[in-house]
Amino acid sequence: MSGPSTYNPSTGIEKWLDERLPIIRLGYDSFVDFPTPRNLNYWWTFGGILAIFLMIQIVSGIVLAMHYVAHEDYAFESVQRITRDVPFGWLIQSMHANGASFFFVAVYLHMFRGLYYGSYKAPREILWILGVVIYLLMMATGFMGYVLPWGQMSYWGAMVITNLIGALPFVGEAIREWLWGGFSVGQATLNRFFSLHYLLPFVIAAVVGLHIWALHVPGNGNPVGLEVKSKKDTLPFHPYYTVKDGFAIIVYLMIFAVFVFFMPNVLGHADNFIPADPLVTPAHIVPEWYYLPFYAILRAIDFGIGPIDAKLGGVLAMFGAIGILFVLPWLDTSKVRSMRYRPLTRWFFIFFVVAALGLGWCGAKNPDDFVLGIEGFKFIYLAKFLTAYYFGYFIVILPVLGIIEKPKERPASIEAAVLGTDKA
Ligand code: HEM
Repeated sequence: MSGPSTYNPSTGIEKWLDERLPIIRLGYDSFVDFPTPRNLNYWWTFGGILAIFLMIQIVSGIVLAMHYVAHEDYAFESVQRITRDVPFGWLIQSMHANGASFFFVAVYLHMFRGLYYGSYKAPREILWILGVVIYLLMMATGFMGYVLPWGQMSYWGAMVITNLIGALPFVGEAIREWLWGGFSVGQATLNRFFSLHYLLPFVIAAVVGLHIWALHVPGNGNPVGLEVKSKKDTLPFHPYYTVKDGFAIIVYLMIFAVFVFFMPNVLGHADNFIPADPLVTPAHIVPEWYYLPFYAILRAIDFGIGPIDAKLGGVLAMFGAIGILFVLPWLDTSKVRSMRYRPLTRWFFIFFVVAALGLGWCGAKNPDDFVLGIEGFKFIYLAKFLTAYYFGYFIVILPVLGIIEKPKERPASIEAAVLGTDKA
């Protein structure tokens, strides 16, 4: 809640409850009368979309767990059985598998919105950091979930990623064995991944609670990046944003439905329809699409520097690519939040988006293949260049441009920006 409470219990029972557990007051002040900037655009609807998808994943996951068997010999079969024999199992399984992708699409749009509009800047640093924690938890949850159907890509994906941990000096091998629960990916691994995959979404839900709390202290940011100065800058959350969010959620769910009903496997990998076989390595091991940019960064570092060999270097770069997001609020030196008023930085941001997509492309390809068939121009070279840009954007471009760029003139207030009455 930001500002004093405006809730007035209207019935005796509400008053009675309010004096004992003011939970309706909390809901009212947070989601009904919450003063929300009046200029939020559709990029601000993805938080609500994410909340819905977290619920979809949890509910569909709980139903799947009622039928899934976490055993090397039965896991693959049990997923097949769910889609064929369990009443509406095909629907629940398709919602869960495609839901993961839609969850990640939404989280990426939510994060890039934050990067563009400077949502991570003071006083919203903790809100941003909690977001990065959620993102990390989502990555871990998605990775472990993908192992559960125990297809070829599940097994070999798990093998590649857990082996990376082994590259860490001193503790790497011990951690890897501990993750495996033995000396290779096997039954013990499957069991613990199932257990953690069930647990982590609830941890995510708890961190989302903190995220919303941290959001409601300073209140929402907005496209012009100015703080709320008067009541005229805001609208009550309900009905204005419940309706806007509701509309966006419905549209997003409609696109989701197209995938769930008409192309349930298009985002999956054909190799995962082959049961896991520790004796047959697939020709190309690729992770799910949402990890591809990081996979490309991992492979881009194919050289050692001093005591750091290529493998460790790749692992450090991959984790560093996410780790750097934690310190982003302190790397961007600009006083102006929104890139609407930072014309030069905006170009670098656009190229950053292109670089992130390009890294995803590199992650999906064999590093030695040629980009667009151009002789000699291997994907690994492109990946190296884009990796350099990725880090350069945070470490050099944002700190330097924040100091040297002269921002454009901004409106006097949010209200003035909406009404176009003031250009001062
Ligand atoms: C399950 C995942 C998540 C949920 C349910 C969630 C939910 C929300 C909601 C409801 C809002 C307010 C509406 C909006 O701005 O869209 C919000 C704002 C925000 N979120 Fe998230 N979020 C999630 C993940 C993340 C991640 C991964 C990040 C960043 C790494 C992040 C960063 C932010 C920031 C910076 C804001 C404030 C934006 C502003 O007001 O300018 N969130 N989030």
